Amino acid sequence: MRVAVISAEAVPYSKTGGLGDVAGALPKALKAIGVDSVLITPCYWQTKAEYLWSTAVDDLNIDWRGSTYPAKAFYSEANGSPTFLIDAPSYFHRDSIYGYAEDYERFAFFNHAALALLRRIGSAPEIIHLNDWHCGFAAVELASMRRWESYWRNTRTVFSIHNMAYQGAFSPSELWKLGFGSDFARNAFSSDGIASAMKAGLETSDTLSTVSRRYAQEIQTRENGYGLEWLTRQRANRLIGITNGVDYEVWNPQTDNELPANFNIDNLDGKRECKRALLDEFSLPIDLDRPIFANITRLTAQKGIDLMMQIAGDLIETGAYIISLGSGEKKYEDFWQSLRDYAPRQVGIYRGYNERLAHRIEAGADMFMMPSKFEPCGLNQMYSLRYGTVPIVRAVGGLDDTVQNFDAVSGTGNGFKFGPYQSDKFLEKIYEALFAYADPHVWKKIQRNGMTVDNSWENAARKYVELYEWTLS
Ligand code: ADP
Ligand code: GLC
Repeated sequence: MRVAVISAEAVPYSKTGGLGDVAGALPKALKAIGVDSVLITPCYWQTKAEYLWSTAVDDLNIDWRGSTYPAKAFYSEANGSPTFLIDAPSYFHRDSIYGYAEDYERFAFFNHAALALLRRIGSAPEIIHLNDWHCGFAAVELASMRRWESYWRNTRTVFSIHNMAYQGAFSPSELWKLGFGSDFARNAFSSDGIASAMKAGLETSDTLSTVSRRYAQEIQTRENGYGLEWLTRQRANRLIGITNGVDYEVWNPQTDNELPANFNIDNLDGKRECKRALLDEFSLPIDLDRPIFANITRLTAQKGIDLMMQIAGDLIETGAYIISLGSGEKKYEDFWQSLRDYAPRQVGIYRGYNERLAHRIEAGADMFMMPSKFEPCGLNQMYSLRYGTVPIVRAVGGLDDTVQNFDAVSGTGNGFKFGPYQSDKFLEKIYEALFAYADPHVWKKIQRNGMTVDNSWENAARKYVELYEWTLS
């Protein structure tokens, strides 16, 4: 089976969040189980030159908006599988990866160029695996072309939803300029008077998936459907949830070379070393018996930062350390700064994006806070499990699927989990975690339960293969 995975970001070429991790790891995992897969992703200004191994196509001339756009494609296998990177400087050589008024146009172009590239490099893949709203354009283009272009006749599409909250909305008056003037295309994009790339992808792809089993249910509800719940419900018989995996070549405390010391479940001495180094790195007093509560995230409402704001004072009172890595909305950045100013001997913050620090925090912390309002899958709770850092999460989306609440009587469970989006419920779990932390025996048990969980990509990749087979049948 030949599969082309198309994604707006993919590690190590680019990353703003979990989509990058997933799109980088899945093709490699597919290859490992014998699936012939290629990844297609943009070449951003941020993509390191060392990852551009060679030029694959230097005259990828794309018919675009009434003229010809002279794009190129680079080749690499830096993520462990064949990858083509579309180079279109005016669209992708910018200060940031997303956040421009014409993002819809940038990714419509990317999709169009990705399909042109596939045509150029060989026979059509059987499956084109599209990810999030950025790839809704290709779903429509393929559904239309398949009717009259024999090249695509046997190609089927899978559309994965990583986050329903971002829908790639734009003015319908732009549709014809992007080549979507037909009735079929206009209907596909049309969503309450606007054009929605997410809606188009959901409507015109052959099958749908999302990144956890629980989220597959949640997006059929008003709370998490963002106005498209009618469509996810309508297509529920074509929708499945596959929980993301972890790339243990990248996230493994035993081999991670970003860490000052390595460790595993049988020898956690290295974790203590990591804790010491982490406190030192944040210029905090070194008291290894006090727990570190960590958080690494985009600072948006999705991540439950409001709950963290509400419990921060109580958490400081307990004497614990708090370390936060992230950037995003100003009110949340200001909150972390003011907490740091208030308790400089207990709070460490780093505003920005820092891959190396993310690894060092996972390793050095004791607890990881993820009280998300919604969480399609979430990766950091799974990284935390492997690094012996106990997650405290809200029971939503992938957090609910991957974290089991610790039960002191049976000794089962790998973290702490609360239900309602309320600060008192979150705080209860924090106190429970502190109580368990005070007993090294109990704590080790929880760590062991987490560190021995197998969330490898291999399992998830096999489920994707089943999904591809189902899509083709
Ligand atoms: P989302 O995709 O919604 O942001 P996930 O938990 O799926 O959430 O994935 C987030 C990914 O981005 C993780 O790999 C996490 O370590 C990483 N990440 C988030 N913020 C930062 C940051 N400030 N610095 C480094 N890595 C970050
Ligand atoms: C999205 C979601 C996150 C998920 C990631 C990868 O960014 O917010 O929960 O883990 O995609 O699927």
